[in-house]
Amino acid sequence: MSFKSEIDKRRTFGIISHPDAGKTTLTEKLLLFGGAIQEAGAVKSNKIKKGATSDFMEIERQRGISVATSVLAFLYKDKKINILDTPGHKDFAEDTFRTLTAVDSVIVVIDVAKGVEEQTEKLVEVCRMRNIPMIVFINKLDREGKDAFDLLDEVEQKLGLSVTPLSFPIGMGYDFKGIYNIYERNLNLFKGSSKKKVEEVMAFEDLDNPELEQLIGSDAANALRENLELVEGVYPPFDREAYLAGTQQPVFFGSALNNFGVRELLDCFVEIAPPPRPKKAEERLVEPSEKEMTGFVFKIHANMDPKHRDRLAFVKIVSGTFQRNKPYLHVRLDKQLKFSSPNAFFAEKKEIVDESYPGDIVGLHDTGNFKIGDTLTEGEALHYKGIPSFSPEHFRYINNADPMKSKQLAKGIDQLMDEGVAQLFTLEMNGRKIIGTVGALQYEVIQYRLEHEYGAKCTYENFPVHKACWVEAADPDSESYQEFLRVKQKYLARDKRGQLVFLADSAFSLQMTQQKYPDVKLHFTSEFE
Ligand code: G4P
Repeated sequence: MSFKSEIDKRRTFGIISHPDAGKTTLTEKLLLFGGAIQEAGAVKSNKIKKGATSDFMEIERQRGISVATSVLAFLYKDKKINILDTPGHKDFAEDTFRTLTAVDSVIVVIDVAKGVEEQTEKLVEVCRMRNIPMIVFINKLDREGKDAFDLLDEVEQKLGLSVTPLSFPIGMGYDFKGIYNIYERNLNLFKGSSKKKVEEVMAFEDLDNPELEQLIGSDAANALRENLELVEGVYPPFDREAYLAGTQQPVFFGSALNNFGVRELLDCFVEIAPPPRPKKAEERLVEPSEKEMTGFVFKIHANMDPKHRDRLAFVKIVSGTFQRNKPYLHVRLDKQLKFSSPNAFFAEKKEIVDESYPGDIVGLHDTGNFKIGDTLTEGEALHYKGIPSFSPEHFRYINNADPMKSKQLAKGIDQLMDEGVAQLFTLEMNGRKIIGTVGALQYEVIQYRLEHEYGAKCTYENFPVHKACWVEAADPDSESYQEFLRVKQKYLARDKRGQLVFLADSAFSLQMTQQKYPDVKLHFTSEFE
């Protein structure tokens, strides 16, 4: 197969949702269609069960599972589909943000009863900022939920999307009769728990055909006709270009658990979703079709076995062909590296591969060379953009609890930060270290891992911070900037890359600082133009 057709064949995407909306269930059904797994229940949920937050074994178990489900690949209609796992738990939101830099499109799952939830809002916002094409799947139609039009409104308002339904439900919950597929113009009737792989779908071009009454009853038939008329009147027709540009989002309805409406979603997905997209590096835009291999690390996973402390770095191939045993340039270290056993992922297994193509993810064994965001090339000094840090939500001093193990502690902190487990800030004034996390759960994970993987002990101490802001000075020599540095000394720190950060202790002090020093720009992410 030619290089070009290898690229065209790939569809790399992520499924995002609030926990419990049905992401795991949907993933599993998609894999069933691809024949990648034989039975339901094969894909393990990697979510942290409620109440398990302080159970270390549970954390470890979850980490193990998340390696297994980091990338799930399968073939469907001649397409190679790579699903990248995105943890739904909010404490791991940063992981998900980073994974979103490696996807070419996403599917957003929404629970019909709960509507748009908090985590969905945050994740969709990141996708919107990056113009990632999105398809929305409204799940659990077998249950009572919100009215379809209300829900479409909610999706538009809360998520800032412009939707157009490509399927429409007939009733819901107890009265759920099926789905009319606007995209394919056919009718799919719901028969209780249809666990079968192939659904019985009937073409139904003309909705005025009285057969509709016989199939679903006259009330439902009339309601469907009215609803579809309304859909046509209110929503624009599907426009693939707009979808690809991230300005229109098609919507499907269904029930993942009953494997209902999933085939429609998948068939449409393989038809419209984008193949690997070009990616911006600081230097230039890189096209997937370029001959030379380039790729970037978006995730690092530590080995759970303390005897083998190697890690797995997940690299998204952006261009060219990645080859086993070929030397590549690790741009940040300016060092040539060869990989004798790169892993590729298929279904829930990983195996060694000789070649990978744009859109694919390879897992590279690493003994500490990689950080999140690192670029690999065949020699060009490229730096892929786009894994900014956001302000953490929690901040704590980290103290060494075992003076004999300070080296181990420093190394452990360093490596965990490279993995992107949390963010480290070093206070300018006294060099004390502060760990910033998205969720409180990370502190337990860090403490546990420092002890079990590095033999170091730590304690934490509260450090009240409202928000971390990255500092940009209009004129570093100006008097007002110098005054800012002097007056705010206590609240200034360096992040891991050496950028200056202002740790505002309250919303009020942040606002006052902004007013008092208008030419000191405070940014809420680490990347600014
Ligand atoms: P997540 O990965 O997004 O967190 O969600 P997951 O797929 O684990 O689904 C959350 C719960 O919702 C599960 O029930 C799952 O069975 C249920 N679910 C998923 N899709 C549908 C659907 O179409 N209809 C209905 N009625 N339920 C659905 P659970 O009881 O929490 O888990 P389990 O014990 O069944 O695994």
